Amino acid sequence: EKGTYAHYMLKEMDEQPAVIRNIIQHYQNENGDIELTEGVRSLVSEADRIYIVACGTSYHAGLVGKQLIERVAGVPTEVHVASEFGYNMPLLTEKPLFLFISQSGETADSRAVLVEVKKRGYKALTLTNVAGSTLSREANETMLLHAGPEIAVASTKAYTAQIAVLAILAYDIARANGKKLPFDLMTELARVATIMDSVMAQKEIFEQLADKFLKESRNAFFLGRGMDSYVGLEGALKLKEISYIQAEGYPGGELKHGPIALIEDGTPVITLVSQPNTHLNIRGNIKEVVARGAVACTISMEGMEHESDSFVLPRVEPLLTPLVTVLPLQLISYYAALARDCDVDKPRNLAKSVTVE
Ligand code: M6R
Repeated sequence: EKGTYAHYMLKEMDEQPAVIRNIIQHYQNENGDIELTEGVRSLVSEADRIYIVACGTSYHAGLVGKQLIERVAGVPTEVHVASEFGYNMPLLTEKPLFLFISQSGETADSRAVLVEVKKRGYKALTLTNVAGSTLSREANETMLLHAGPEIAVASTKAYTAQIAVLAILAYDIARANGKKLPFDLMTELARVATIMDSVMAQKEIFEQLADKFLKESRNAFFLGRGMDSYVGLEGALKLKEISYIQAEGYPGGELKHGPIALIEDGTPVITLVSQPNTHLNIRGNIKEVVARGAVACTISMEGMEHESDSFVLPRVEPLLTPLVTVLPLQLISYYAALARDCDVDKPRNLAKSVTVE
């Protein structure tokens, strides 16, 4: 039930710190070590490449997951949109593992891929929020998101839960392969939960930003580089699905290859600046769009901030920034939809789970 909350989406955004703490509890043993089932461990240990398959927000979590698995665990990983997989079937390695990411566990496009790969005798692991869902039952193994029911059509807490669980999976594979771990994951996740609390306590700021930048606009851009570009895609999806503002997420460097032609006086450009290796280049992109009339709403991270930024987040390990950078984008989208009198929890033309191909 949504209790005192005006919308499920607001409640579910607010639940994110608790979900992260819940995930830590479920995946950590008494010694503070990551604990996965033997079934999951043996599946991933046999794989020479991981093929992530998902749709929508879960696909965006998969993009972050690929970076986590490759950079932390060193296992080659690809990410595919489920509905395209059949036409653009990648060359498979000898021992592929299919990793399905799905909040509902019922998405028909993802299930079609699962049916096909099982027919070919390949193994599958499903990351889902719903125990007993179709994708969970039909895969060899399941990792649960422990996010609690997600009712709003716009997915929020499932996204952050998926990224946290993907990070845990990446760390477990890395440990099994004797890799040096870049930082203590569970400690950093606990810190992330505290930072999430602090962002959620400042909602009025994002309400004001939504009013200022998006209330009256027809379109918007979300820019970022590296990890930030993936989160920008998620921000654009959130905004378009609930506020009906046309939104595009772009890697900063792609701007000059076409989309910059769309920038005119007053075009809102929402930019994330959280990656130490890209922050100087993305600042250059902000200057380019502002010079063409764009209004810049910049969400940055401590150590990379600028006095003109709209919001500065506390510093988080670069591999985990999506867990916190997505919050301002979720909140801005929510308040933009409210300001435009949209039905936040049940946007037009959309269903919570898409059970047709
Ligand atoms: O249940 P799933 O994670 O498989 O759903 C996938 C997409 O349909 C879903 O993420 C959709 O994009 C959301 N409405 C985004 O907010």
